[in-house]
Amino acid sequence: MDRFLAACRCEPVDRTPIWLMRQAGRFLPEYRAVRAKVSFLELCKTPDLAAEVTQQPVEILGVDAAILFSDILVVPEAMGMQLILEDQGPQFPSPLQSRADVEKLRVPDPEESLGFVMETIRRLRKRLAVPLIGFCGAPWTLAAYMIEGKTSRSFERAKALLMGDEHLAHALLSKIADALVLYLNAQLAAGAQALQIFDSWAGALGPEDYAHFGEPYLARVIQGLDRDPRDPQPVIVFGVETGELLAQLAASGADVVGVDWRVPLDEARGRVGPAVALQGNLDPASLFLPPGQLRKRVARVLELADRAGPGHVFNLGHGVLPTTPVENVKALVEQVHAHTPPRQ
Ligand code: CP3
Repeated sequence: MDRFLAACRCEPVDRTPIWLMRQAGRFLPEYRAVRAKVSFLELCKTPDLAAEVTQQPVEILGVDAAILFSDILVVPEAMGMQLILEDQGPQFPSPLQSRADVEKLRVPDPEESLGFVMETIRRLRKRLAVPLIGFCGAPWTLAAYMIEGKTSRSFERAKALLMGDEHLAHALLSKIADALVLYLNAQLAAGAQALQIFDSWAGALGPEDYAHFGEPYLARVIQGLDRDPRDPQPVIVFGVETGELLAQLAASGADVVGVDWRVPLDEARGRVGPAVALQGNLDPASLFLPPGQLRKRVARVLELADRAGPGHVFNLGHGVLPTTPVENVKALVEQVHAHTPPRQ
């Protein structure tokens, strides 16, 4: 049994598996070399290149899983919104403002509008030696981007629109959820072996609002998946600043819950219960420490994971930062691979 997939199912493993969010990205010189030739969106939409950069961290770092190279924002684009992805960060120049704007959005046929993603997955499955993780953004996080039009600190536009108009909120979040079910099922059909749903902005909502605008739509996406009944592909849900939401994330039907560095893993176990695996949760800034201090922090995450019981996929608490030294990431992977969790 594959080590990453076994850990996602809380089954025993010989070594702790590790992969890293944003493992294919600007901290790798090999990624920057490909990216120098094309724009970010062209890279996502050219299956040969997207497959190449997906594979880079597997070969260079020796991680136990590959994550499809793409972006969560290609779905709103396929739903009909213009997307600009440049150095200032992603932008929707015409953000959603009204019920009429929501009605105009379409639920796209993924093979037609996002076929490049499925083509990238099919190519990767022919050559990858580790499991391939497909992904999407969660309904709340995508809705927030679509209303704000860009990254936000406080999400006042998104919150005012959704909290102020129940009808609009339900129409928008349901439409996004429907689009995501089709999209993730197309990824599974193309060969994705696990799925991660990024609810990166979950922590911007308080628990009552997350119970209203977040978790139900996350659950609806997960319930809609056509997973292989004999060998169900694990679903990971991840968000940032989710300490107060971990129980809700676990209740969504996820097999694995991603934890950022703000909650120790043994504490997270108490909040999610024994049945779901944990993914995380080294602070990405730790990778800027001198080797001895980095080792101590990695050892501490492993120790707390052992205390939390079976089911741990090592990861960072959020993505690898663009200026991270590659040598430190290699040392991290080696240290985690030297760790055998206790048999319980
Ligand atoms: O290696 C991987 O993790 C796979 C590829 C991946 C990217 N984006 C590539 C990317 C994944 C899984 C994502 C998800 C994503 N995209 C999220 C959720 C994860 C998270 O960070 O919380 C979000 C919020 C986005 C939206 C997005 N895309 C932002 C905010 C940015 C700009 C920030 C930045 O790092 O520049 C992007 C652009 C982006 N997506 C880049 C990469 C490698 C950088 C683009 C470049 O090469 O110039």
